[in-house]
Amino acid sequence: MNRFRTSTLAVATMLALGGNAYGQAAAAAPSAAEGIAPGKVSLLERARPSIESLPDDEYGKLARYGHELTTRTFAHIGPEVKDPAMRFAGNNLACTSCHQENAAKPFAMPWVGVSAAFPRYRGREDALSTVEERVNGCMERSMNGKPLPLDSREMKAFTTYIHFLSRGIPVGAKIEGAATKPVEVPNRRADMAAGEAVFKANCEVCHGEDGQGRRMGVAGDAQGYLFPPLWGDDSFNNGAGMNRILMATRFIKYNMPQGVTHQTAVLSDDEAFDVAGYILSKPRPVKANLEKDFPARWNKPIDAAFPPYVDGAPADQHKYGPFPPLAEKAREMARKRAEELKLQRAASVVAQ
Ligand code: HEC
Ligand code: HEC
Repeated sequence: MNRFRTSTLAVATMLALGGNAYGQAAAAAPSAAEGIAPGKVSLLERARPSIESLPDDEYGKLARYGHELTTRTFAHIGPEVKDPAMRFAGNNLACTSCHQENAAKPFAMPWVGVSAAFPRYRGREDALSTVEERVNGCMERSMNGKPLPLDSREMKAFTTYIHFLSRGIPVGAKIEGAATKPVEVPNRRADMAAGEAVFKANCEVCHGEDGQGRRMGVAGDAQGYLFPPLWGDDSFNNGAGMNRILMATRFIKYNMPQGVTHQTAVLSDDEAFDVAGYILSKPRPVKANLEKDFPARWNKPIDAAFPPYVDGAPADQHKYGPFPPLAEKAREMARKRAEELKLQRAASVVAQ
């Protein structure tokens, strides 16, 4: 209990100190006080680990299966696979539809270092979360499906592949290239007409006029997509990280159109923001029980566009902005929370 409180306090303090009010909470990195200086690793120049080099032992087999599940998710655990018991994902995306380049591309939410960053506090659960729980977070939201059983070969394969990618990254290291790269969000609501124009000019050629992408084969063959759909029944659901406009803006700016990197972005921040708004204004699967997410309401991300909203701002603003005023409110709530926890701690010391 005490530990959990401390981590919550650390997060509250980080937010209150003007930290990243947009983002998820930080890892419980080893502190200087513990005598362990957290390392720093950059993924920008680092060689990508190659699965080819692994021997054919049990670790190698599982890592290879994990790689296969990551790149061809639809063919093994998608909604169209032959064995109904294996239909865990609810759409025909691959993990690599978002976690690009075998989940190793910098600023495309790479898994390199994830084994060294978890267990980690996550606001969505207001608790420490394990790598397995994080995988299932994407299974239930990005993949609009069901959680994988912890003892399944598939879960072991995912965690082994993530472990393989993370080899050589020290626990608690600060990783340059992790998650997504920040953008300067305009202080206005996303402009749907401008977003549609960006979509037509830069996205439609692959993702299609109707946003439904292009399949490899035909519906029902479990072969997934050449270009994945951006909305509709076979897309991520409204509880997914990609359904948050600030997250989608950062992902799109530095990864789309396909081929772009953090060094070669072609969209401006405004264009990325507007096209993200346009995509997220379209229909997609709805996740049940989203109100259970972020039980500690004060640290719910400001762009999580589902109720309840505790800051008094309208739902539309949480979905489309303007965000800077919401970020200010979030910092204020975090500051109050940090104060409360400090008082509680002082009171419990007095009581002892
Ligand atoms: C529609 C896009 C999308 C797809 C498909 C997707 N994810 Fe994710 N994933 C995200 C986003 C966005 C984040 C970071 C968001 C957040 O922190 O909530 C993320 C984060 C993660 C993380 C944590 C990364 C970190 O740095 O902490 C893991 C592990 C993960 N996903 C696993 C998976 C697995 C396994 C699959 C396939 C079964 C998958 N994801 C499919 C979008 C996606
Ligand atoms: C040249 C083809 C191409 C263009 C142009 C393109 N994309 Fe993509 N997009 C892809 C591919 C392929 C993927 C899957 C990622 C991978 O395999 O590396 C993808 C994935 C995505 C995803 C995450 C997966 C999903 O299904 O939601 C989003 C969001 C996205 N693109 C948005 C855009 C936006 C917005 C634009 C225009 C600014 C755009 N894309 C332009 C090919 C393209």
